[in-house]
Amino acid sequence: MFKPIKSTKNLPKTPPHTNQKRHTRKLSPKIPAKRHLQSKPQQFQPLSSLTPPLQPKTISTRFMSTAPSVTSRLDEVRKQLHDACEQYKRPTNSVSLLAVSKTHPPIAITEAYDHGQRAFGENYVHELVEKAPLLPNDIQWHFIGGLQSNKAKFLAQIPNLTLVESIDSTKLASKLNSELIKVGRADPLGILIQVNTSDEEQKGGIEPSECLEMVQFILQNCPRLKFKGLMTIGKIIDENNPTAAPYFETLTKCRDEICTKFENITKDSFILSMGMTHDFETAIQYGSTEIRVGTAIFGDRNYGPKPVKVDQVVDAPPHETEENKTQ
Ligand SMILES: Cc1ncc(COP(=O)(O)O)c(C=O)c1O
Repeated sequence: MFKPIKSTKNLPKTPPHTNQKRHTRKLSPKIPAKRHLQSKPQQFQPLSSLTPPLQPKTISTRFMSTAPSVTSRLDEVRKQLHDACEQYKRPTNSVSLLAVSKTHPPIAITEAYDHGQRAFGENYVHELVEKAPLLPNDIQWHFIGGLQSNKAKFLAQIPNLTLVESIDSTKLASKLNSELIKVGRADPLGILIQVNTSDEEQKGGIEPSECLEMVQFILQNCPRLKFKGLMTIGKIIDENNPTAAPYFETLTKCRDEICTKFENITKDSFILSMGMTHDFETAIQYGSTEIRVGTAIFGDRNYGPKPVKVDQVVDAPPHETEENKTQ
């Protein structure tokens, strides 16, 4: 998906605009009559005598991108995070920023990295597997997408994977735990349990009422996983649903119940991953300790063609012929 820049070998040696002859012919009708009279009838003026040499300052601004850079967008999000923390009387360092780089190319991630960002979130296993080796190994990768247990083995092999935020079944937790044992990862992998706080069928996550049981299962059965907190995705805000506050409140309540039941799990180190581009200020108000922001940092996502599965490269179907045609 992330192709290297194509070889420049087959590009023309000189750009077409330096082909004087062709261009002078095209331009000649526009040469003022007086100039024509001054030159010999069959000779064409060299291009340089007809047009002033190109100076950098003469390049039209229409060739320059007007889209804000990742750097300036990141500054803006940091400022908004800071302002929201001030407004809701929270220390700025109590909320971390996860840059969601799903569908964005390594060059955009590098720009954010060069501007000090280290934690990045990805939603697709194949994309993370492809990007991680191309980028600095001090990046902290968070996996935030829906995860099938048969893909856990690919995640387990990424050395700088720091947090899997979308654990939503005991089967998935067990599988990830056993894959980590197989690859011999030295330190336990941090995980968050995803909670479906908006009760939407299409969304991943366990029911809020299942949290205690799920934490208990992980603590007892998954020694290679380190339970670190909870993650939720608020329901999309619109005129019928003007605020994401109820979802964030629910997640905060789940945290409180967990901290009450398990005395080794304390609020001060508990991660509450909630808040995205359109609702992160509300999430900060309700106690978020990590906001996951994509669009506000990288711009709109480009989903492109459907990705090829990482564990099974499907061959293109054979061309249909009269012989193999299915009836
Ligand atoms: C789980 C999760 N968190 C955060 C984001 C970032 O969303 P946004 O681009 O609205 O900031 C996404 C985007 O797909 C996501 O799937």
